[in-house]
This record gives sequence, structure tokens and C-alpha cells, in this order.
Amino acid sequence: MLKGKTFLITGIADEQSLAMYVAKAIVENGGKVVCTGLGVSKHHENLSDKAKGFLNATYADFEASVKKELGQETLTCVLDVTLPESIQSLCEELKTKNIQLDGWLHAIAMDKTIRGKVVKPLMEVSLQEFCETMDVSAFSLIRVTKALFDFDLLEPKSSICSISYIAASKVTFHPYRNISIAKAALERITIELADELGRKNGTRVNCVRFSPYMGSKAGNATLTEQDVNTAAKISPLGNASPEDLAYDVLNLFRPNGKITGEIRHIDGGYHIMG
Ligand SMILES: NC(=O)c1ccc[n+]([C@@H]2O[C@H](COP(=O)([O-])OP(=O)(O)OC[C@H]3O[C@@H](n4cnc5c(N)ncnc54)[C@H](O)[C@@H]3O)[C@@H](O)[C@H]2O)c1
Repeated sequence: MLKGKTFLITGIADEQSLAMYVAKAIVENGGKVVCTGLGVSKHHENLSDKAKGFLNATYADFEASVKKELGQETLTCVLDVTLPESIQSLCEELKTKNIQLDGWLHAIAMDKTIRGKVVKPLMEVSLQEFCETMDVSAFSLIRVTKALFDFDLLEPKSSICSISYIAASKVTFHPYRNISIAKAALERITIELADELGRKNGTRVNCVRFSPYMGSKAGNATLTEQDVNTAAKISPLGNASPEDLAYDVLNLFRPNGKITGEIRHIDGGYHIMG
């Protein structure tokens, strides 16, 4: 289905990342992937030793997981979406290597107001915390897409997909305050870009809302087992699995599809419940 197609996959932290399941499905269906991981880039300035250690360990985990799951030959690059220069370096590398993309997966989120599964009330969130979460988790969809366009790296009729959560529009039974606003922005950006880029050159932009999942680092930092079990009980089909997510993203990545501007639920039907 994806023979001859290449996709940029962001947001892999390790084997359990949702993005890894999508990357594996692409490869299994004959496509190629270029994977980006958060790490120290030459554009980072004044990093503390602690921050450097964290980023180096994050990148080492990412690289080892990609090579193990997707093959030694898979191209891996550093990407910190908060640094325009880091995005530019990624684009320059792709250009130098003559890589043209047929789409990209946005699987990036960060919210420092959630620590050890404890979520700050919105009234206590600072402007800086609000903007940082928005920057990493939502604006990055615009920033990376613009850079890929500026470097002419995306083929016409490419497909872009991001991952959201039901909390973008409904208050969830577990707290998810600041990041829910960024997810709402991510979804609105999806719709605006679908119009803007669809008319430009047929680029499709979609977003999928996925079930709570504790396997990943982000999920494990945010959710409890009770949260996941409660969602499974509420959902008519139980929670969707990462494989279910990958299957549907693959469909959105299919060449010549006509779906765009959609906020799709892959959540076992959770969203229909009152
Ligand atoms: N786990 C869940 O329950 C769940 C449910 C619905 C949606 N999602 C969404 O799915 C996506 C992937 O999350 P996941 O659960 O696989 O967790 P994950 O921890 O595996 O992935 C999050 C990724 O974001 C990356 N990231 C954070 N800041 C970054 C930055 N500045 N630049 C580049 N990358 C950065 C991390 O390195 C990591 O790879 C996220 O958007 C998340 O909100 C997750």
C-alpha cells in the first residue's frame, strides 16, 4: 500500500511510543520512515548538566529503539520543535540526502504542569507554562509543516496526521487541564491547515483522538491504571490499542485519500458516551 512512500515520524521515545507503532505499520506496508527524537542539538544554548544528561539519555533510548524495531538502516535525526534552528537542520539534512516526504506524523506533547501524575489546577498555571505547552504540543504542527514546505520536502497531496485526546473538547473524569487546551489548539490548527494546504497543493491534514494508554512515557507520567480501566469500561468496545491507532493512521496516509480536516476518534466509542 505504501511502496515508494516515505514518512517523517516524530515523537518516538521508545518501543512503546504510539509513533513507533505507526512507524512499524508503515514499514510493514512497504513504506519508508525517517524518525526524529528529542536530544541535544547544536542549537541548544546554556543547557545545564542535568538537562544535557536527560536529553542525551532520551536520544539514546530513541535511537536504540528505532534501530531495534525498524532496522539499523533507518535514518534518525535530532529534533527539538521549540528551536526553529533544529527544525531547519532537520530539513537541511533531508534535502542533502535527497529525501522527499509523502507525509509526516506529529506525535509530540509536553506539559510541565503534570508532575508525578499530579495535575496543576488551571488557576495555578503560569503564562510561561501555558505557552510552553502550547508551543511544543500544538504550534509545532504549524512550525514543522511550514519548514517542510519552505524546503520543498513534501510531495503534493501529502498526508499529515497528529494525535489528540478527548480532553480537547470534554472535561475528562481524570484531571488533564493545561494540556487539554493545547490539544484543542492542535485540533483547530488541523482544520485551518486542512483548508489552507488542501487548496495549496492537495495536502491532507487530519488528527486522531486516541484512548488513554499507559505504555508510553507520556501516558505513564500522566495516567493511572484506574484511569485506563475506567475508560475501557465506559467505551462500548473497550480502549483502542496502539495497533488500532496505527491501522487508522495508515489509512489516512494512503495515497490519494480524500479525507482531510477530520478529527477522528479511535477510542472504542468512548466519545459517544454521556
Ligand atoms: N498515551 C496516551 O494516553 C495518549 C492518548 C491520546 C493521545 N496521546 C498523544 O500521542 C502523542 C504521543 O504520545 P505517547 O503516548 O506515544 O508518548 P511518548 O512519551 O512516547 O511520546 C511523546 C513524545 O514527545 C516528544 N517531545 C516532547 N517535547 C518535544 C520537543 N520539544 N521536541 C520534539 N519532541 C518532543 C518526546 O520526546 C516523546 O517522544 C502525544 O501527542 C500524546 O499527547 C497520547
